[in-house]
Amino acid sequence: MGREREIEEVSALLVGARLVTLTGPGGTGKTRLAVECAARLADRFPAGGWFVPLAPLVDPDLVPMAIAQALNVPEHPGRTPLERVLDQVGEQQMLMVLDNFEQVIDAADAVAGLLAAAPRLAAIVTSRFVLHLSGEHEYPVPPLEVPDVRHLPDLARLAQYAAVALFIERAKAARLTFAVTNENAPAVAEICVRLDGLPLAIELAAARVRLLTPQAILARLTDRLGLLIGGPRDVPERQRTLRGAIEWSYDLLDLDEQRLFGALSVFRGGARLEAVEEICGSPGEEVLSGLASLIDKSLVRAESPPERRRDALCDARDAPRVRPRAPARLRACARHGATPRGVVRRSGRPAGAVDHGGAPACRARPA
Ligand SMILES: Nc1ncnc2c1ncn2[C@@H]1O[C@H](COP(=O)(O)OP(=O)(O)OP(=O)(O)O)[C@@H](O)[C@H]1O
Ligand SMILES: [Mg+2]
Repeated sequence: MGREREIEEVSALLVGARLVTLTGPGGTGKTRLAVECAARLADRFPAGGWFVPLAPLVDPDLVPMAIAQALNVPEHPGRTPLERVLDQVGEQQMLMVLDNFEQVIDAADAVAGLLAAAPRLAAIVTSRFVLHLSGEHEYPVPPLEVPDVRHLPDLARLAQYAAVALFIERAKAARLTFAVTNENAPAVAEICVRLDGLPLAIELAAARVRLLTPQAILARLTDRLGLLIGGPRDVPERQRTLRGAIEWSYDLLDLDEQRLFGALSVFRGGARLEAVEEICGSPGEEVLSGLASLIDKSLVRAESPPERRRDALCDARDAPRVRPRAPARLRACARHGATPRGVVRRSGRPAGAVDHGGAPACRARPA
């Protein structure tokens, strides 16, 4: 659904670059986009596009072996998997999709070595984390397009928004007779907006039409972790529930990052950098580098205030804002239980405040 612009942009990047990393939180559509790009780019890569699934791996040392297997490289005594892959790729014009790199991020050097030794090889990496390699072009995969709920278009145009189209398609798969009507259209649109256009979340919500009307789904979005469960049996476990999608990322954080991510859950709808430093920092603690890392890992989004984006000069009000991504914020709540009330008062936000997605910011469910 949608994604024409994204496919064009990624394809254009691959003209000048040989390593493009599609980043974004779990379920944002990185794999789907990478596969679609590889299919469209078949003409440019006569030696083919090869899909290398890395999600099952936990040991970065096994990445060269996984690539060798995906490429059907024959065994060769005395040659390492990396050497065997290089023997096969050689000077060929080939495209690799390295899927789900985040949990084998330490294999980034092996990818760099591969690209350096194979001059006509290109790679699309999908990863919740940036690889930080020279020559890497990061492409943050945006959410699906959502309508403006204050000015809803007619039903035909509403269904053209990618997020709504995805909801309708998955809802019809769950209940054959599902249709968008004038009565339920506002709820369908609002669900897509409240789920930030995140494809996985929209799919999980749409599957709920088996039991609930869109209006009832919307009313229950305050408990997203409880509602967005029950994905298909044949998808990886991390994509069967929203909780699973967030846990996959959270579990890859180190302890300091987990602590900072948890502390960020006191903010609803985002916060200014100075506020985060004041609330989440302890003496001598480097909040900035922790935040940078959470941004790199697609768990926090940095945004500049829209009304001041075009200002040439920065002042204090231009300080970047950070915003835990919606599911991430929920995850943080779930892990850390009640919001520390004192902290909330200092930040000027009432305890028990409701975040923009309708989730109680401090009435958390235990993980
Ligand atoms: N543009 C789209 N049109 C239709 N379905 C989509 C689209 N993008 C994503 N999806 C669906 O949403 C779900 C999540 O997408 P995908 O697996 O690509 O996410 P991901 O970013 O790779 O997640 P992860 O980080 O867990 O690997 C899948 O079921 C996928 O088919
Ligand atoms: Mg993926």
